[in-house]
Amino acid sequence: MDLGLQGRIALVTGGSRGIGKQTALLLATEGVRLALAARGEETLAEAAASIREAGGEVITIQADLRSPAESARVVAETISSYGRLDILVANAGGSIGERDFAAASDADWEETFRFNVGHAVAALRAATPALARSEIGNAVFVASISGRAPASRGAQYAAAKAGLIHAARSLAWELGPHGIRVNAVSPGSTLFPGGGWERLRAERPEEFAKFEAEDFPARRLATVREIADAIAFVVSPRASGINAADIQVDGGQRRPSLR
Ligand SMILES: NC(=O)c1ccc[n+]([C@@H]2O[C@H](COP(=O)([O-])OP(=O)(O)OC[C@H]3O[C@@H](n4cnc5c(N)ncnc54)[C@H](OP(=O)(O)O)[C@@H]3O)[C@@H](O)[C@H]2O)c1
Repeated sequence: MDLGLQGRIALVTGGSRGIGKQTALLLATEGVRLALAARGEETLAEAAASIREAGGEVITIQADLRSPAESARVVAETISSYGRLDILVANAGGSIGERDFAAASDADWEETFRFNVGHAVAALRAATPALARSEIGNAVFVASISGRAPASRGAQYAAAKAGLIHAARSLAWELGPHGIRVNAVSPGSTLFPGGGWERLRAERPEEFAKFEAEDFPARRLATVREIADAIAFVVSPRASGINAADIQVDGGQRRPSLR
């Protein structure tokens, strides 16, 4: 299927590793010109090199996206480099601070919300005029199945991802009249080299094997390629009928997390 993405411009936040990197690589093979934002210069350079090896065009922008002003700057730099923006993938995110409620501080809760919800919303706000000028303008917020199902620990992450899903679905209504689609894609536990699940598999192999056997119909976690495939389709004009949605890509995972 031709996704119709040739020559489009996409910004992928958190594009130097894991789901974001794989999404950027896949979009590059579809002819998308990319901007990647993250903190680490070295991993950004490595991701950019992989994209260029695959024949893609890419710029990298170092930023700490816990600051909404930095999200806005990243969008502005992308637009000033390429002259326009068609696709925003707000992928950077994660849990900040302690996971147990008793230990987690108010600051942990605030930062987790600022990082997951604040960065995506600030980026979309900055991107709105450019996305409105594009015939395919759209945004995907990378959330989590934790945003839908209750988690047994890490409540600030689950609550922030629930807020992120709700923000995407709600903003689709406000931005729809400007021709902009907004969706959430919610991965389940996703395995990739250097990721948290790979570390856990090495540290606690028996617990991990039980998790895979009991919580996944196919007896395995999702792969980054599976998440990237879904995102690439959702941002493409072939998915013009998908809007205000939360698309779970979790292989049928029973509970949101082992931990
Ligand atoms: N992996 C999973 O099992 C899973 C499951 C459900 C949902 N998700 C969600 O999917 C998204 C991607 O997850 P992942 O596991 O692929 O991520 P990851 O391995 O944690 O990588 C995150 C990316 O974001 C960047 N990043 C981290 N903190 C940042 C900050 N403060 N400012 C700017 N960039 C930052 C990282 O680069 P630097 O560290 O160099 O900045 C990296 O490029 C996240 O929103 C996560 O919550 C993941």
